[in-house]
Amino acid sequence: MEIRKNPVTRDGKRTTPVVWDSNCLEHVCGACSMVINEQARQACSTLVDQLDQPISIAPMTKFPLVRDLRVDRSRVFNDLKKSRAWIAIDGTYNLGPGPRLDAETQELRYKLSTCMTCGVCMEVCPQYSPVTSFVGAAVISQVRLMNLHPTGAMHSNERLAAMMGEGGVQDCGNAQNCVRACPKQIPLTESIADVNRQTTWHGLFGWLKR
Ligand code: SF4
Ligand code: FES
Repeated sequence: MEIRKNPVTRDGKRTTPVVWDSNCLEHVCGACSMVINEQARQACSTLVDQLDQPISIAPMTKFPLVRDLRVDRSRVFNDLKKSRAWIAIDGTYNLGPGPRLDAETQELRYKLSTCMTCGVCMEVCPQYSPVTSFVGAAVISQVRLMNLHPTGAMHSNERLAAMMGEGGVQDCGNAQNCVRACPKQIPLTESIADVNRQTTWHGLFGWLKR
């Protein structure tokens, strides 16, 4: 924001204000993700006085660049659609209270639900790039989240089929960078291992559920 107030080039010439995305400004939406001092993170929650100076700011590298610090994360949202990462309910009438979940599952689902599709886990993943089709840890973790819900589990076959297709869970190279980088401390490697187990089961016995 300081740079935007007085945008100048390296040699002091006036230039256009820098462009970036942001929305919540409270570490919830993930829109402001960028590479700050060579680490992918959210600009809104990165405190300037705790950074080495001078500060370097760059756009994330795994998504198409729109302009300056703004990237296009549509691929993440398209992969969530392909993986059916939502719970289908008919909202046209009152369905009553949802199914009960035990406290342990609730706690785990809450943690997984804090994903803000920020793209940081994709940015640090060696398997995720503009020339590969890997969906990345966040999408796999959302499949786990939806399959953990009794209503969501009704469509688990479709999600697991997507996870077994091109760019699915088998493309994970187990680098484990994602779990170290996730700003929400989501247990991404556990999610990948869990969805891996689910796809193996689905491959062997999924036909029994049809
Ligand atoms: S899993 Fe973590 S790093 Fe990946 S998109 Fe979600 S919040 Fe960001
Ligand atoms: S603006 Fe929403 S996370 Fe930074």
